[in-house]
Amino acid sequence: MDQSCRSFLDDLARDGEVLDLVGPVALDYELAAMIGLVDAGPAVRVARTDGSEFPVFANVLNSRTRIARALGCLTRELSARIARATTVRTPPVVVSHAPVQHTVLRAEDHEDLLALLPIPRFFERDSGRYLTAGLIVAHEPSTGHRNASYARIKPLGDNRAFIGIAPNHHLMALAQEAARQGRPLDVAITLGAHPAIQLASCLYLGLGDDELDHAADLLGEPVRVVPGITVDVHVPADAEFAIEARLHPDRPIEEGWVSEYHGMYEDYGAGLEVEITAITHRRDARFQVILPGLFSEHALLGALPIGAGLVTALRAARIDVADLAVTRAGGGRVDVVAAVRHLKPGAAKRAFFACWSAVSMIKQITLVDDDIDVWDDEHVHWARTARMRWDEDVLIVPDVITDRNEPMNVGGLVTKIGMDATCRPDRRRTGWHLALPPADAVRAAARRLSAEHPGVVLDPGIGLAPLLERS
Ligand SMILES: Cc1cc2nc3c(=O)[nH]c(=O)nc-3n(C[C@H](O)[C@H](O)[C@H](O)COP(=O)(O)O)c2cc1C
Repeated sequence: MDQSCRSFLDDLARDGEVLDLVGPVALDYELAAMIGLVDAGPAVRVARTDGSEFPVFANVLNSRTRIARALGCLTRELSARIARATTVRTPPVVVSHAPVQHTVLRAEDHEDLLALLPIPRFFERDSGRYLTAGLIVAHEPSTGHRNASYARIKPLGDNRAFIGIAPNHHLMALAQEAARQGRPLDVAITLGAHPAIQLASCLYLGLGDDELDHAADLLGEPVRVVPGITVDVHVPADAEFAIEARLHPDRPIEEGWVSEYHGMYEDYGAGLEVEITAITHRRDARFQVILPGLFSEHALLGALPIGAGLVTALRAARIDVADLAVTRAGGGRVDVVAAVRHLKPGAAKRAFFACWSAVSMIKQITLVDDDIDVWDDEHVHWARTARMRWDEDVLIVPDVITDRNEPMNVGGLVTKIGMDATCRPDRRRTGWHLALPPADAVRAAARRLSAEHPGVVLDPGIGLAPLLERS
């Protein structure tokens, strides 16, 4: 099995789900604007840009349907599928020859390796060009810890770059451990690995728990890796590019403004220096771009693995979770809706605390019953509106630890809120049922509409979609 994005992109193209841009596209803003304009739509392939010989692809994992297709499961199974991967480990298989090392470009032969790549400038006030689809594999030899995660890279010229890593991320922990041993940290910044590997690298796991071990469960086979050529790391063998590098925690670099998941800019101060030692790539390599900020692919790639971790945490707290969404409104990071069953008195609060302690970024949690579609913002807000008493069903906890990327944080703290929008049987004489035709009639009507009017696009009103999904 090919462990790159290639065959998936080819499948999408066959089904008309790829927008092919043939004429040259400018890396300064034009590429970002084009991807943004088809945000939740087709994947994008760009044959030529104005800054590099390599073609570009983007917008691949920008919907739950797409991601489910890439993992070979149904959309409604996605949360459970990714949650399972947090509990299953299969180590990678090390190979000695790999497509990603077809061509090797060494720093000693090139003054500025990153200048060969089509790295875009995305947003008006960003402080530079950013490589955003860099899945970074790292290895810290004194502890043996390995890690895979995304972090943004900003080229600085002279085979140097800036890397922005949140202080609580494991890549930073590995870099600091290496610094304590008086060494830089060896990494490989890889692009274009299989969607399963990309999703797994966003899982919230324990320090030293290698995301590539968990990717195997999503892939259906172990990840193939190849030893780096200039660095002591294992590189996903079928990726398009691997930028081999060393992170220097002792060489801070000021970043300036950069976009964040919440859609606004941040100025985090200093990050680390990256020393590029080589770039390896496939024959006919294609360069991956992920439009950052509040755009769909960036939001979902983070949201689904975070959601999977929360499902696991809630189950450990004995909460019966039917489905869980980390919403787009919260940038796929901070706002959660969980559909739950059989809540005992006090269990809603237990669920809130389980989520807050599992992932410190989580700020807002809404619990709904399993008749609510957690992915439909309007349906969820209906549950808040129709099924809550605000004075009894809201828990507000001031001054809880959060991450530095929380837009409302003061000194690392923020007020968190839990909303219990589940029904209590004793609160309404006429019960909680939505006024809808019977489920059988709705399913039969859907079948008849599709048979007699094949072109019709069903756009079910609130409450009908869950009935169809259960058919
Ligand atoms: C496309 C994309 C870009 C990201 N960029 C960054 C980044 O620039 N800095 C950062 O700290 N985290 C970034 N993240 C989030 C981390 O990769 C993610 O939280 C990861 O799970 C952290 O890894 P860890 O659990 O091993 O610490 C990004 C995530 C995605 C999906």
